[in-house]
Amino acid sequence: MSDLFSKFDPLIELRETLLKSGVTDPFNLVMERVESPTVAICNGRRTILLGTYNYMGMTFDPDVVAAGKKALDEFGSGTTGSRVLNGTYVGHKAVEEALKDFYAMDHAMVFSTGYQANLGIISTIAGKDDYIILDIDSHASIYDGCALGNAQIVPFRHNDIEALDKRLKRMPPEAGKLVILEGVYSMLGDIAPLKEMVAVSKAAGAMVLVDEAHSMGFIGEHGRGVAEAQGVLDDVDFIIGTFSKSVGTVGGFCVSNHPKFEILRLVCRPYVFTASLPPSVVATAATSIRKLMDSADKRAHLWENSKRLHAGLRQLGFKLGTEEPQSAIIAVIMPDLEKGAAMWEALLNEGLYVNLARPPATPAGMTLLRCSLCALHSEEQVGEILGMFAAAGRAVGVIG
Ligand SMILES: Cc1ncc(COP(=O)(O)O)c(C=O)c1O
Repeated sequence: MSDLFSKFDPLIELRETLLKSGVTDPFNLVMERVESPTVAICNGRRTILLGTYNYMGMTFDPDVVAAGKKALDEFGSGTTGSRVLNGTYVGHKAVEEALKDFYAMDHAMVFSTGYQANLGIISTIAGKDDYIILDIDSHASIYDGCALGNAQIVPFRHNDIEALDKRLKRMPPEAGKLVILEGVYSMLGDIAPLKEMVAVSKAAGAMVLVDEAHSMGFIGEHGRGVAEAQGVLDDVDFIIGTFSKSVGTVGGFCVSNHPKFEILRLVCRPYVFTASLPPSVVATAATSIRKLMDSADKRAHLWENSKRLHAGLRQLGFKLGTEEPQSAIIAVIMPDLEKGAAMWEALLNEGLYVNLARPPATPAGMTLLRCSLCALHSEEQVGEILGMFAAAGRAVGVIG
């Protein structure tokens, strides 16, 4: 019998070598207590959270928490059913209404996660004779949505408008085409040139889907994302998003103005063949989304945090993923995995949690320490964070 697990041997070996060097497992951290969106207790010590995607700090918002508790009392702990059977409660309708209001769009469909939203929408709308043209740095859930469907997949170089245009022009004019882009690319924290890319896509007769997982709530005047900030929201056919970042809970969604959108509720398998979100989750999401509509001050403070951290890290001598801060994600580029893991651990010992990211999740084989800022990080906390980066960076030898 051949062992089906032998394909994992290189990864097992890499992991064992890393752990033998004495570093804490960076992918097995336990939060012992969470005190706020920016502070938790890890390994018995106070730790500033800088790797949670909790951009707008909604997880402890008193109105959000109260809505969840109320729904738990009134509707119980779960729906035990699909949205198309017994799993649609008033709360599911209410959160879809909140999304329609938030984006000023006609339709909203809520999934159990953002991952499932991409799986479902992409695999359902692009069929056998259609083409999907996507940025090569797309999130795993976008690739998995492509793998679940039958369309032909055509990747293009990251953020390269000309490469997208060339691919589109090579396709049969009558073929169905779906261009998939992200507002913010979460590994380096860079944004897409959506204005140009949407124009090129529309000129070629393609539909456009934009995943705004890392921009909803923060980027754009109303927090609708990069498509809003670049003035192309009306030209985007489908926006995908998640509740697991700015909204502060779990769940995913697609919003659209397509007149036939509602048929997806009957044909989209990752929507139909899974249980719907618990009532407490949709209640917290709806409350959070409505509060995010009115959060211009928090958005402004988050931009300040992002600029302050980016400038401070650069001044310390760290190599960063973008020249200028483009989002609430700031990626610090490490020389290799060993140094990255050592730096991650040194930061944790200082009292700071960031995300360690390595290939295949990262582009160009990079090891990254990804920092995601929160609107509730204070100016003092950003100062503390920079002090910790300075100490850890010097101890590990990443900066001089
Ligand atoms: C771009 C992008 N899309 C989708 C998702 C999936 O979101 P969820 O956590 O809701 O499954 C993520 C999560 O990291 C993401 O970064």
